[in-house]
Amino acid sequence: METLVTSPAEGIASAAALLAAGEVVALPTETVYGLGAAALDPAACARIFEAKDRPLSDPLIVHLPSREWLERVAVVSPTAFRLAEKFWPGPLTLVLPRLDIVPDLVTAGQDTVAVRMSSHPIFSAVLQAYGKPVAAPSANRFGRISPTSAGDVVAELGGRIPLVIDGGPCEHGIESTIVLVRDSELHILRNGPVTAEELAAFGAVRGQVAGISAPGGLASHYAPRTPLMIGNPVPSPKTGLLSWQAAGEGFARVEYLSKSHDLREAAANLYGAMRRLDAAGLDLIIAEPVPESGLGRAIMERLKKAAAR
Ligand code: TXA
Ligand code: MG
Repeated sequence: METLVTSPAEGIASAAALLAAGEVVALPTETVYGLGAAALDPAACARIFEAKDRPLSDPLIVHLPSREWLERVAVVSPTAFRLAEKFWPGPLTLVLPRLDIVPDLVTAGQDTVAVRMSSHPIFSAVLQAYGKPVAAPSANRFGRISPTSAGDVVAELGGRIPLVIDGGPCEHGIESTIVLVRDSELHILRNGPVTAEELAAFGAVRGQVAGISAPGGLASHYAPRTPLMIGNPVPSPKTGLLSWQAAGEGFARVEYLSKSHDLREAAANLYGAMRRLDAAGLDLIIAEPVPESGLGRAIMERLKKAAAR
């Protein structure tokens, strides 16, 4: 199959038509590029798993065209409603009790569904044109680095999908925060652009819950092919550095997350920098740790999964 990369002007109508026809399309969101398919059509969603080589045990996030759809797919508690009001459209995914309209393939047979509303103008234009929810994981092969540009999507899924809309680089560069909402307790299943500090105003913030399949549930995820370790920058000729603070003398290649030590910029650069280091023919990538608060937690969570083998 030939993968067409189009401009937004040319792509929005074709993307909506492909979704209606049960096909997959890659679209930019404010977090990372997603691979979308009609969420209420199991056969269409099956194509997502096929294109990504994704195990069926890993559930999909349902992206809504409008807030009105929320109550049609999930049971919405007052806390969940307040979170949606505050953070949607935006990089927050809520895990809520599902309604029957959501296919089992999307939830991996669980009794919850993950939902979000993207703020990206192109993503949102495609959903308006299509008019129904769209299931969309990150547009990468399973377990690999999420794409933050149209070129990354082609590198991951070229030849396997019909269309990518090129919306330029993604604003946040890391995936949405995922929160399981239970009464007034918020369990952060994946750290992301909406931080624990911001969520604390809406309920008691807790970590993972036993028995809930956590995002990128496996220890290894978001992983480059080159071995990656987190640690002090010890230079060597075949080693690359993903730098937070170090100047990086003596390394074969250095990528700086943010020269001004801005965690937002670091998050936006993270996956592109990992991809470039991965393509440089190195024996090892050393990633310097970043401070583990605010957005730094989300960055460290991804580095730890990228380091796990
Ligand atoms: O920013 C994002 O969230 C991007 C863009 C495209 O929206 N999407 C994304 O999807 O990162 P994905 O599939 O790569 O990661 C979503 C994670 C999965 O690892 C899955 O385990 C988890 O969300 N998930 C989905 N439904 C769930 C549920 N009902 N309960 C717990 N975890 C769930
Ligand atoms: Mg993913």
